[in-house]
Amino acid sequence: MSKQPTIEEALADKGVSRRDFLKLCGMMATVLALPKGSAETISVALAAATRLPVIWLEFQDCTGDSESLTRAYQRPDPAVSGATDPTITNLLLDVISIDYHETLMAPSGFYAEQSRQQTIQNYSGQYLCVVEGSIPTGNGGAYCCIGGRTALSIVQEVVSHARATVALGTCAWDGGLAGAAPNPTGAVGVRQAAPSAPNLLVIPGCPANSVNLVASIVYLLTYNAWPSRNSAGLPSFAYGKEIHDNCPRHDFYENDQFVLAWGDQAHRDGWCLFKMGCRGPRTRSNCYKVKWNEGVCWPIEAGHGCVGCASSGFWDQNTPFYVPLADD
Ligand code: SF4
Ligand code: F3S
Repeated sequence: MSKQPTIEEALADKGVSRRDFLKLCGMMATVLALPKGSAETISVALAAATRLPVIWLEFQDCTGDSESLTRAYQRPDPAVSGATDPTITNLLLDVISIDYHETLMAPSGFYAEQSRQQTIQNYSGQYLCVVEGSIPTGNGGAYCCIGGRTALSIVQEVVSHARATVALGTCAWDGGLAGAAPNPTGAVGVRQAAPSAPNLLVIPGCPANSVNLVASIVYLLTYNAWPSRNSAGLPSFAYGKEIHDNCPRHDFYENDQFVLAWGDQAHRDGWCLFKMGCRGPRTRSNCYKVKWNEGVCWPIEAGHGCVGCASSGFWDQNTPFYVPLADD
């Protein structure tokens, strides 16, 4: 078997210079809020590590997290954008090797199932299992079957041989949209469907932000452990701080300067969206820091309140979205 390239070598093959590689490591250390000197530790680890095999399971979902992944992985075309720098999310598919992903993989049917089984056998105890979507438990799991097997039995088998598991997106965390009342399929998240899932990391969001996924994987490859997590399994670097306290519109909130109608002068002037239903005061997420679309923007910056997509039970607890929260 030919020797696998290290992550640094794989990046170099794609035209990422040593200088840009070090820059990426520095950006990762910043996202992870690591102390000074950590960028060098990351660079040493990634220079030696090979890509992490991944089985990506997709169940009851809208494919939003996969969309987020593939949209993030658009290396800027210098001819079009003038940009030449590799970005954090460009790194994602260079640190992982997706061996099974129903939406992205070329094989289908029997050969797709075979790829999953081969990855389980060849990389038992080494691969990462990423779960997107909720798992239905009603009627013995009959509401989501793939290759004649229920999602429930597939997830339980795949996680039991994994090195670690990621519940990616709000559906994989707590059932998400399918799990909202009245939850006709008995949809649940990974922790409930497979309580024995080893080393579970939860990255909620609708969709989840790929920057938080890649940063967590880089941390895993560097320190052989997930970054610090809360009791629900969410990494503190990404879900430790409230959006409201870090919002660029916070001064307007403090000064009682609120948007009262979409498109009014206050809206045009970027005032606080609390009275338009913003859920920033009850949502913990680093959207204000990592943003979306390669750091271009995020919901509140775009003029829409946060709907709390990274908080537990948000479909039931945050709707209707445009009704303001009760004043603190
Ligand atoms: Fe808080 Fe939302 Fe207002 Fe920002 S826009 S200050 S998160 S209520
Ligand atoms: Fe979701 Fe609110 Fe961030 S809606 S993407 S948690 S700003």
